[in-house]
Amino acid sequence: MADVEELKRLAGIEACKFVKSGMKVGLGTGSTVKHTVIELGRRMAEEGLEIVGVPTSLATEKLATEVGIPLVVLSEINGLDIVIDGADEYDSKFQLIKGGGAALLREKIVAQESSAMVVVADDRKKVSTLGAFPLPIEVTPFSHEATVRTLSRLLDCRVNIRMAGDGPVITDNGNMIADAHTGPTISDPESTESDILLIAGVVQVGLFNNMCDAVVLAGSNGVETVINPNGRL
Ligand code: 5RP
Repeated sequence: MADVEELKRLAGIEACKFVKSGMKVGLGTGSTVKHTVIELGRRMAEEGLEIVGVPTSLATEKLATEVGIPLVVLSEINGLDIVIDGADEYDSKFQLIKGGGAALLREKIVAQESSAMVVVADDRKKVSTLGAFPLPIEVTPFSHEATVRTLSRLLDCRVNIRMAGDGPVITDNGNMIADAHTGPTISDPESTESDILLIAGVVQVGLFNNMCDAVVLAGSNGVETVINPNGRL
């Protein structure tokens, strides 16, 4: 049986089939989609693929530059053809939890600007109810303790500021990440998203609802592409 790293590589590469010359491509963040970025760079160098990319994090910007993908900023273009990104969980309605890599704000902006979203994942990410993976919420540093308390009351669970060593994780946007330990209880992710976004100290929440059009899923039986019947692909 293939190991997880190999599954991620297979899914990441397979998703490149959705990318054609001339496309403007959102480049996600994480250890799965990094293989997509590397493969797109290879196809540009060796097969004449011509694309421009919009990265969803400083880490992806660095990788895309290294592999030779020309980058543009959102203000220079009128939307993207597609974004390919990872996910921490997805359910049977293709609703996602994202933000395990702390890039959820830029990821969500890029997804919102894209005509289609393809998720690359290994089969550990498929769940029946979202929430076993702690829900990432980007919060403004000003009053983050109060925001954490409010989130904890709203969601009725433990919420903690994500740490890196002695200090908090600081996102590419200068914010912090609060992780909400809801457990697998998020049965109505749309209302959970709306409720969280009403809190003033919240910048964005890692629930990506009604955005994902397909999942390229790698498991021990190989790689399969699951198309969202209610999606745009
Ligand atoms: C980053 C993300 C990632 O896409 C998500 O955490 C999945 O990452 P990986 O492919 O490394 O498991 O949302 O903010």
